[in-house]
Formats: sequence, structure tokens, C-alpha cells
Amino acid sequence: MQQIGKPVKGKDFVGREKELFLLMEYIKMGQSVVLIAPRRFGKTSLVLEALSQLKKQKYYTTFVDIFTNPTLELLSSSITQEVLKNHNLHQQFAKAKNSAVAMIQNIKLKTVLEDFQFIVGFVDDNKDSWELLSESVDFVDNFAKKHSAKMVCAYDEFGDIKKFDPRGNLIKMFRSKIQRHTSSTYIFSGSYESVMQNMFVSAKAPFYRLAHIIHIDYLEKSSITAYLKNKFKDLKISLPDNYVEGIVETTMGHPYYSQLAVQQVVLFSVFNKRIPSLDELLNQMLITEKDYLEKSWEDISNNREFVYTIRAIAENSKNIYTRLKTKNINVARATKTLEGMGVLFKDNVKGYYLSDPLLKQWILKKL
Ligand SMILES: Nc1ncnc2c1ncn2[C@@H]1O[C@H](COP(=O)(O)OP(=O)(O)OP(=O)(O)O)[C@@H](O)[C@H]1O
Ligand SMILES: [Mg+2]
Repeated sequence: MQQIGKPVKGKDFVGREKELFLLMEYIKMGQSVVLIAPRRFGKTSLVLEALSQLKKQKYYTTFVDIFTNPTLELLSSSITQEVLKNHNLHQQFAKAKNSAVAMIQNIKLKTVLEDFQFIVGFVDDNKDSWELLSESVDFVDNFAKKHSAKMVCAYDEFGDIKKFDPRGNLIKMFRSKIQRHTSSTYIFSGSYESVMQNMFVSAKAPFYRLAHIIHIDYLEKSSITAYLKNKFKDLKISLPDNYVEGIVETTMGHPYYSQLAVQQVVLFSVFNKRIPSLDELLNQMLITEKDYLEKSWEDISNNREFVYTIRAIAENSKNIYTRLKTKNINVARATKTLEGMGVLFKDNVKGYYLSDPLLKQWILKKL
């Protein structure tokens, strides 16, 4: 069955050749990179693919998801554990980190503990969590140095670091440490665009010029079309002419929605013993994503200017200035902010459009 939502790898990882090439070239130059895209555009998949290829080229790798670590202690332990994975010591660490005796008696960890004594601090409940994190952040680089290796370290959902850091001190700590690391290169990825924007893009941002910015777009239509055709063939589902092209037309090559379409065609045909029409498929997808879409709308609809602007753009992105003139809406301000939030994309030919193609359809149908 078609599973969606988790990062994809192997033959389900479609396209992204250019992004992957660029990302890896920067890393090899020692240039840190930040990947920015709206939710479900395939950031994590891309990062994991890059790490897996770099690992084959003898890089040490570390992958930490800030979002899944609710406390500073867990974040620190997750960083340390991921670093230790490079020497296959992560399970030893996981087993030993709750008991001083287990930690000290662990023969495999012994040599690491000699060089990196801070690790013993994980068993100490009273240990200052800030210090533990600070040591862990440096451990990434120090461990690589110790073993004369090159390290590539990815912090996924990096914007989420704000949850620990209302005053911005943690960010400063990260920055001052990372700048000094000479054996490590970093990939930061995130989806809260305005947050990432404030961290990396604007001139006042703490990480300004520290990392090269790559924006991730939809998958190329030709790659996703070929993938979907193959996928349906494998699933022994035969489709009318231009059906897959119709899917890609709707999803615009959005990775998650393209995979969702496959899943929903399969489910529909199991239940109804026939293939859904493209309209039925779209409805099915809207039903499945109802909660997510409502939530997305809720996040933006508390602002009157946004609501008018987005609706106008969803209906037709032409002449929005004239159409909204009478409503006393500052379209320029709204579009700019929404673009910064990743809600809108801008194209020289098409003008502004919604980055989430299903949200567009949802708005057209519901509002
Ligand atoms: N390169 C790709 N080829 C095919 N499908 C993909 C690709 N990238 C992502 N997907 C699809 O999109 C889904 C989301 O991918 P992924 O988790 O990598 O995105 P993300 O941007 O990290 O999402 P989130 O914002 O939820 O963290 C995957 O489960 C998969 O179905
Ligand atoms: Mg992700």
C-alpha cells in the first residue's frame, strides 16, 4: 500500500537532482546551507538523501530534528546520540545515559568518555541543561576532528528552536559555536518561512550570511509524471489517457499531494471497483486533508487583508489590485507578508499563486 507522510527514499524519492547536486556541492565546499520550503515539500527527504550520499563519500553525518525534541535535555542527548552513531555507539549511549554505573562500566563507551567527559553529565539530573546543549553542539565538530573526519550536520525544523528561546540567547550560542567549527558543515531546514526568514535572510538575522539559502520548489512535472505512471503500472491500475497529467495539473508537482493522489486512487478503486474521475479524486483528497486544510486556513484567516487577498488570488491571480481596490485592502503589503510566510509563491508570468494547490481548491469550493 502507498504510505504517505514519512520522508521518502530509494525509488520513491523522485527528482530533486538539481537541488541535491547543489546542496552537496555547497557542503563539499564547506559552505553551510539553509533549505526553506512550505510544509510537506520534501525538505526532510532531501536532507536525508543528501546525508546518505555524503555518508557513502566518507562523511560523518548527524541528523537532528528540533521539532521532535521537546526539552533541551532531549535535544542535547539527541545530538550526542546522532554523533555517536557514526561509530555505532548510539545504542550503547542510549542504554547507559540513565545510570552512572552503566555509563562508567560501559566498555565500548570508555574511550569516548575519556575524550569527551561531558557525556557523563547526561546521567546527572542536576546538570545544567544549557551547558549540556552547549557541549553537545560542539561535540559534533570535536568528534569529527578527533577522528580526522569531515562532518555534515543537519538541523531539521530549525525554526522550532524558538520554542526554547524566547530571548534569542540560544540562537546566539548556536551561531557563535557553529561559526568556529572547522570540520563541520551545516544544513538547516525549516518550514515556518517567516521564522526562517528572520533567522537567515534579513540583514539583521542572526544567521545572516552564515548559510547559503536554497528554496525548494515543487517537483518537476516531467519527473513526477513519469514516477506516477510507473507507480500505477506497478500497482496494476490502468488509467484513462491524460489521467496522470490531470493529477499533476492539480497538484502542480507538489510532492505530498502527488503521493496522496496515488493513495486515494487505490482506495477509491478498491471500494468502488472503478477509477475515480479526476473530480472525484480531488474531492477524495480534500476530504482526507480536511483537518490540515482547515488548520492552514485558520492560521491565515485571522487577518482581513489576508482573507481578501488570498481569495482573490485563488479565484484568479490577474488584476487583484483593481479588484480589491474598493475593499480598501493594501494588496502589496498582504502579498508581501504572505509570500514571506510561504503561503504565496510568485512567478514572473503567473504573478502570485497559492503554494498549497489543495488549499486553493479548498478555498474555491468552501468559501
Ligand atoms: N522527492 C520526493 N519524491 C516523491 N515524493 C516525495 C518527495 N519528497 C517528498 N515526498 C512526499 O511528500 C511527503 C513529505 O515529505 P517530507 O517529510 O520529506 O517533507 P517535509 O517538507 O519535510 O514535510 P514537513 O513539513 O511535514 O516536515 C512524503 O511523505 C512523500 O509522500
Ligand atoms: Mg520535515
